[in-house]
Amino acid sequence: MSDIKARPIQRLGVIGSGTMGNGIAQVAAASGYDVVLFDISSLQLEKAVQAISKSLSKLAEKGKLQESPEGILRRLKTTSQLSDLKPCQFIIEAATENREVKFKLFSDLDQLLDPGVILATNTSSISITEVASHTRRPEWVAGMHFMNPVPIMTLVEGIRGLATSDECFQIVRSVAEKMGKVFIEAKDAPGFAVNRILMPMINEAFFALQENLASPKDIDTAMKLGCNFPMGPLELADFVGLDVCLFVMEVLHRDLGDSKYRPAPLLRKYVEAGWNGRKTKRGVYVY
Ligand code: 3HC
Repeated sequence: MSDIKARPIQRLGVIGSGTMGNGIAQVAAASGYDVVLFDISSLQLEKAVQAISKSLSKLAEKGKLQESPEGILRRLKTTSQLSDLKPCQFIIEAATENREVKFKLFSDLDQLLDPGVILATNTSSISITEVASHTRRPEWVAGMHFMNPVPIMTLVEGIRGLATSDECFQIVRSVAEKMGKVFIEAKDAPGFAVNRILMPMINEAFFALQENLASPKDIDTAMKLGCNFPMGPLELADFVGLDVCLFVMEVLHRDLGDSKYRPAPLLRKYVEAGWNGRKTKRGVYVY
């Protein structure tokens, strides 16, 4: 039995300093946690701190922060040494969406950290039960799925693996709520709740585009003005990353075994071309 309850969470580690990881680190630091942000690339960490500073300045200008960006940044440390996470009481992993990378990380974190430390993963589609099986503490592993952009989107999906303990899940919920997020619980099933519904819609928009149902702009306008979506599905695919959309569709297709989840050939073609969306300056649209 862990002593984590007797030791309120103050030190939080975030793994991966890409868009999701830096957003999570930012919101955690702004919520009062001492944050250690880990990435193997120090260049990526520098970029992350710049992105966080920019986002905090924007929020400060609008009076949306409780304290100055400088005060928040003082609670954020960066490192490319995994061992610097040793003092952390709670980890949120937001590394690249690759099964082997995540499995290895969870195994390494399990070796490094005290037995009661919670290991949460921000995976968008990999089984929490399977991630947890790479540790000796599956009862302290859970899914904690944030939405992009993390500082703006209020949802966190919580997912229990087969062995996740109630105590672990309650702590995950309370950390998400302290970060100002609304927490919902979804089953450990492919895509959980958000991506199970969102990605087939995006995929369908690619089928529609492939069939010349309407132009990209008109497909997006249809959903923006017809359904009040903030972004059309193709615009959103560029924002999330076409490679991520394809990866999730492949998981849904493989694990649910239903042909309705087959990835649209046009989506696959764009990814083959390296047109992964905003991050590569070209996706459905050119940036
Ligand atoms: N930090 C701080 N502020 C930010 C920000 C950030 N990272 N990103 C956006 N903002 C602010 C802007 O400054 C702006 O503020 P203002 O209204 O006070 O001027 C406000 O948010 C709106 O931004 P923009 O004017 O630039 O543009 P939009 O009005 O189009 O809003 C958006 C941008 C919030 C991203 C909106 O388009 C949106 O909600 N899009 C849908 C996002 C979505 O669906 N996300 C979920 C994706 S799925 C996912 O993440 C799961 C994963 O597993 C795939």
